[in-house]
Amino acid sequence: MKRIAVLTSGGDAPGMNAGIRAVVRTAIFHGLEVVGVRRGYDGLIDGDFFSMESNSVSDIIQRGGTMLKTSRSERFKTREGMLDAKRKVNEAGIEGLVIIGGDGTFKGAKEFSEISGIHSMGIPGTIDNDLFGTDYTIGYDTALNTVIEAVDKIRDTASSHHRLFFVEVMGRDAGFIALTSGIASGAEDILIPESKTKIDDLIKRLDTGRKRDKSSFIIIVAEGDIAGGAFEIARQVKEKYDYFDTRVTVIGHMQRGGNPTCSDRVLASRLGVAATEGLIGGRKNEMAGIVDNKIIFTPFAQTRKHLVNVDEGLLKMAQMLSS
Ligand code: F6P
Repeated sequence: MKRIAVLTSGGDAPGMNAGIRAVVRTAIFHGLEVVGVRRGYDGLIDGDFFSMESNSVSDIIQRGGTMLKTSRSERFKTREGMLDAKRKVNEAGIEGLVIIGGDGTFKGAKEFSEISGIHSMGIPGTIDNDLFGTDYTIGYDTALNTVIEAVDKIRDTASSHHRLFFVEVMGRDAGFIALTSGIASGAEDILIPESKTKIDDLIKRLDTGRKRDKSSFIIIVAEGDIAGGAFEIARQVKEKYDYFDTRVTVIGHMQRGGNPTCSDRVLASRLGVAATEGLIGGRKNEMAGIVDNKIIFTPFAQTRKHLVNVDEGLLKMAQMLSS
């Protein structure tokens, strides 16, 4: 193997740059040439490539976003798009890819390898932490810290006014951000898609808190909760229990930005090295992950998010501690 390419795909996540840096420098260390692909799979289809040197990744380990840019490519979901990408990759003499993204990214890479014979190694990069085969994804820790900083601020105003706040956090179909940030911020309740939200139970818990004269109430709502987003749940609560002065905050894309935390930088560096050395060593179509602080490799087909379980015991613990 002489030349590999690196790209980022799907939603950006803080720490992706640290991952790119690790891939580029590991490949160069092992005598390979590295090509950067701009804009994820869209750039692969368009041949939006540039040669990367060691200096190309200077001064990026601390930066959020992705220097390679990213996309959620619709074209790459089609056979034509994949065949165009295959042509571009072959013309550029690229023999393997290192891709940083979430489960949609890995699904695309698996199909691409079947159509084109061009193999990839993956690095889990998503704030949602919803991939099987790793305890943590790159960007999750930074997003959590962004959330708790915001919720701590909301707590100040909530307790000054004796208000009830519903705070919506990201995590398309997964409650990891909600659950962990909820524990860390002492939220009065945490609503996640993995556990059925019962409005009556929520109201009971609010009423118990009210009777013991709590000064504020913060309910963290995962955006994918089946009862609806934070605005909808606030509406349903108000309809049945109109005691509190209520406000809703959606933290939104702020959760995807910012300088990566120390943990995310180290995680991205370790996984970047592992995926690149794996590719060089003949591994293909697997994601590098960290489980119990050890690097493991999981076939793309098994990284799917539905295999990851949220620890329901933690939810009960959070409710007990904030009651
Ligand atoms: O997958 C990461 C994520 O931030 C999810 O938490 C969220 O649902 C989604 O991306 C938002 O995507 P977009 O930035 O395309 O609106």
